[in-house]
Amino acid sequence: MSKLVAIVCVDDDPAIRDSLEIELKKTVGDDYLIEIAEDGKEALEVCEELLENDHEIALVISDYIMPGMKGDKLLKRIHALSPKTLKIMLTGQTELEPVSNAIKYARLYRYIKKPWQSEDIRLTITEALNSYLQEKKLAAFTLELQQKNEALLKLNQEKNEFLGIVAHDLKNPLSAIHMAADWIENDYDKLSKEEVVEMASMISVGTRKMFSLIKNLLDVNVIESGKLNLSLSIINLLPILQSLVNRYTKFAKAKNIKVQFQWLEKQYPALVDENIVSQVLDNLISNAIKYSPHNKKVYVRISKNETSTRCEIQDEGPGLSEEDQQQLFGKFARLTPKPTGEEYSTGLGLFIVKKWVKAMNGKVWCESQLGKGSTFTVTFPLGV
Ligand SMILES: Nc1ncnc2c1ncn2[C@@H]1O[C@H](COP(=O)(O)OP(=O)(O)O)[C@@H](O)[C@H]1O
Ligand SMILES: [Mg+2]
Repeated sequence: MSKLVAIVCVDDDPAIRDSLEIELKKTVGDDYLIEIAEDGKEALEVCEELLENDHEIALVISDYIMPGMKGDKLLKRIHALSPKTLKIMLTGQTELEPVSNAIKYARLYRYIKKPWQSEDIRLTITEALNSYLQEKKLAAFTLELQQKNEALLKLNQEKNEFLGIVAHDLKNPLSAIHMAADWIENDYDKLSKEEVVEMASMISVGTRKMFSLIKNLLDVNVIESGKLNLSLSIINLLPILQSLVNRYTKFAKAKNIKVQFQWLEKQYPALVDENIVSQVLDNLISNAIKYSPHNKKVYVRISKNETSTRCEIQDEGPGLSEEDQQQLFGKFARLTPKPTGEEYSTGLGLFIVKKWVKAMNGKVWCESQLGKGSTFTVTFPLGV
């Protein structure tokens, strides 16, 4: 339960203290905590204690002429302690200077001349409390707006960076394609067959890079707009992994990398989206080959326990430093290990993998030591 908001009254005259308390009770009932003090010193102590105990002080009503600290000084001190507290001062008929002091130094809300009419003081208290609550609401609203604005600015900055990277990444393959096309256009009659093939291959590599970036960008877009429509069903992961291993064994041959697949049973059920899970595993296996030097091995293992099916992709590549590991699943994380063949890198693959796996209620993580290879593990619920 939230703590009661407090109202503090200060007057050295017991009769006035009593009548103030009665007026306050009639005006606010039990909605506020009412504290009464006899002089400035006691009022300050009361305020300090309230604030220490996490109470807000909505209103202080203080007499001006009191033994010890005068009303305007007291309100100035309270203002320093709790600037949002509204202050009302009770004055005699001719005390204008203290009023102007209190307005200047304590942002005095109102002053009330003694003797007051019961109606008057109750109306003033009600108005003060309404105004306090409104300011509080306004402050909360302003804070919310500020936070939203900051979030939007950050998002906009992220989008700008995103656009910058994408434009840069598209420029390189495009200029290669452009160069090849120019060459063919201007020198087609002087080109050998080998040169034409070389240029066609430049064009093909360039377009593949652009397709791969665009595919990644579209995947990120679907994820970030929350439109990832998964169709989950229980399937056997073994044939999926088997066919990926077969496919990548061919690519790996170019680097003399051997892919070893280890499994023990025929059924490895998982509650997943078939298409997405295949892309997740594809990403992890392709990374293992992409970042491994020639003549190494990649181990692909599948296992299961009572609750989940687990795939491990272990390589003997460069491994990842602690710092790189922290950024591994972030956007555009092109880290220290670079492709060891001519492969293309967007730094988006693992970002997408992480989101997809999470959406399928699975887990993915990496264990690695610099210089000692990496193991990426992904688990999916059995769904039974
Ligand atoms: N198996 C791995 N071994 C070493 N480094 C890796 C491995 N997998 C990923 N990385 C590093 O993490 C980065 C992010 O990988 P990823 O998100 O898949 O993007 P991409 O492969 O398109 O660059 C890569 O650029 C690479 O530096
Ligand atoms: Mg990748």
